[in-house]
Amino acid sequence: MISNMIKGEVCAIKIVETHSVTETEQAGKAFAETIVDGTVIALYGGLGMGKTAFVRGMAQHLCPKAEVSSPTFAIVNDYGGQPPLVHFDMYRIGGWEDLETTGFFEYIDQGAVVVVEWSENIEGALPPSTRRVRFARLSDTERRIEMEESV
Ligand SMILES: Nc1ncnc2c1ncn2[C@@H]1O[C@H](COP(=O)(O)OP(=O)(O)OP(=O)(O)O)[C@@H](O)[C@H]1O
Ligand SMILES: [Mg+2]
Repeated sequence: MISNMIKGEVCAIKIVETHSVTETEQAGKAFAETIVDGTVIALYGGLGMGKTAFVRGMAQHLCPKAEVSSPTFAIVNDYGGQPPLVHFDMYRIGGWEDLETTGFFEYIDQGAVVVVEWSENIEGALPPSTRRVRFARLSDTERRIEMEESV
């Protein structure tokens, strides 16, 4: 389904339901295979939804040696890779100045793949070409994941 147009780019919504952490990681890996360098991926959904599991799956494709965990206190983890995979957790971000000191804008300018947990907290700073991924909890072990993929 063609869902929206952003700056001339087309993206499609893909929806999966996962039944385990491993399946969510697989969804993240498959998603990473569709994205291009320099994309910002904004993740939405509350505590324990599987955002970090999804990023772990993305790293399996982009940077297989990375040890992925939510950078809740550090705010940013740079896992390296070509292009680099950079993981933000905006749970504790303050204002705009705080965001600038994390290097968020430089990473985007450098063409890194920037994936953001708690993007709700920096909505106004996301570029127009941002791809959004939304998580919903269906049960203790099931998640619904809605992804904007490039086509
Ligand atoms: N289908 C599933 N996919 C992903 N995680 C699942 C699933 N079913 C159960 N879980 C559990 O949900 C939790 C997801 O944790 P994860 O750290 O990925 O969440 P998060 O969205 O990053 O949370 P936070 O906002 O606290 O960083 C884990 O405890 C995992 O075992
Ligand atoms: Mg997390």
